[in-house]
Amino acid sequence: MFVSDCLNVNENGCLTIGGMDTVSLAKEFGTPLYVMDEQTIHRSAELYRTSIEKYYGGNGLVLYASKAFSCKEIYRIVNSEGLGVDVVSGGELFTAMQAGFPAEKIYFHGNNKTAAELEYALDCGVGQIVVDNMTELELLNIIAKNRGKKPSILFRIKPGIDAHTHDFIMTGQIDSKFGFALETGEAEQAVKRALELENVKLVGADCHIGSQIFDIAPFELAAKVMVNFMADMYDKYEVVLTQLDLGGGFGIKYVSSHDPVEYDKYMQKVSVTVKSTCEKRGIQLPFILIEPGRSIVGPAGITLYTVGSIKEIPNIRTYVAVDGGMADNPRYALYGAPYDAVIANRALLPRDKTVTIAGRCCESGDLIQENIAIQTPTVGDTLAVFATGAYNYSMASNYNRLPRPDTVMVKDGKSRVIIKRESYEDIIKNDV
Ligand code: LLP
Repeated sequence: MFVSDCLNVNENGCLTIGGMDTVSLAKEFGTPLYVMDEQTIHRSAELYRTSIEKYYGGNGLVLYASKAFSCKEIYRIVNSEGLGVDVVSGGELFTAMQAGFPAEKIYFHGNNKTAAELEYALDCGVGQIVVDNMTELELLNIIAKNRGKKPSILFRIKPGIDAHTHDFIMTGQIDSKFGFALETGEAEQAVKRALELENVKLVGADCHIGSQIFDIAPFELAAKVMVNFMADMYDKYEVVLTQLDLGGGFGIKYVSSHDPVEYDKYMQKVSVTVKSTCEKRGIQLPFILIEPGRSIVGPAGITLYTVGSIKEIPNIRTYVAVDGGMADNPRYALYGAPYDAVIANRALLPRDKTVTIAGRCCESGDLIQENIAIQTPTVGDTLAVFATGAYNYSMASNYNRLPRPDTVMVKDGKSRVIIKRESYEDIIKNDV
């Protein structure tokens, strides 16, 4: 009935998440409020993990791409599922370390890591650094030497694949700020150089072809390109790249027209490609990594708001203003991202009114969704926006000095705050 399995309606006609009444949650914790269903997160993590066991003999690791949603509790949850993580900044790394995440299962990404971040990563004992460019390779070698360490590295490669997604979030083509290009010989140069350097250990190759992708074909193609690159490097330099990281980007259902494939199908198909290409090229099967972010946390989350003003502009549109907006969910403002929503306290009634959901920020573009059919709203209703578990809290801002909402996790009929709502004092705490 709804875009995520964790959503339902109870006997009072109210929307539930993980079996809990969203209207009561809104009353208890206030709005805006992020709510996440823990079971959904566990289920997705498990599905990815077992897909590697089922289709690739367990010779791999799922890395949760923590940029999708980073806080201490999520690192604890994915750790309990046996996943590794991908971090992209000192801040994400610090959060993971504070949560007790095992450093050897952390992969450090990013196209412009600072010297301080690389030093911190080595001091933490981070397992693998995904090197993006020559400057970073040289810098890391010096930093590692100074610390008497020899980190394992993977190279971020641009396999040059068009994954048919939104331009802003496409990173696999040659015109991208991420990684080494294959076709220009840049990636090969990097391999050659790494083999000369004494303080880094080249172990693998990484790619990420985009985000919110529904097709499996671009992933299969990427896997083929990457394995061929690894085989070329073996043929030319006798270097055995033991790790192949295929990135994330698996699409989720934001609206009913979206039709994502079951998460374990990726590994089912891609492992066939990896195995056959390795066999053809006569190289050993690599340890495989995938980096889902959105698909692990996205469907688990919703955002609850309270409906404030309702403005009917005759023959134009009806604005329904809520007590949050682009500060807690900038994705419509940034990407025109689709979302579905309902009036949570009348979730079963027909969606008989087409409205534009507006936020409360001082900006006309501060919209959550335009022309969406919901139950006729009245002031004080609870509005629930679905599938906000990824790239909402993690992309939230304090624009207009709005405090970030609580994040509440629900599980087994119980709720707990995992990130506290910011207070006004929090907002000024670094002002001098
Ligand atoms: N690995 C790498 C190297 C990435 O760059 C990304 C996402 C992921 C994994 C995880 O991709 P996912 O499975 O979550 O699609 N802010 C945008 C999304 C940007 C994604 C950036 N990289 C949004 O709100 O849609």
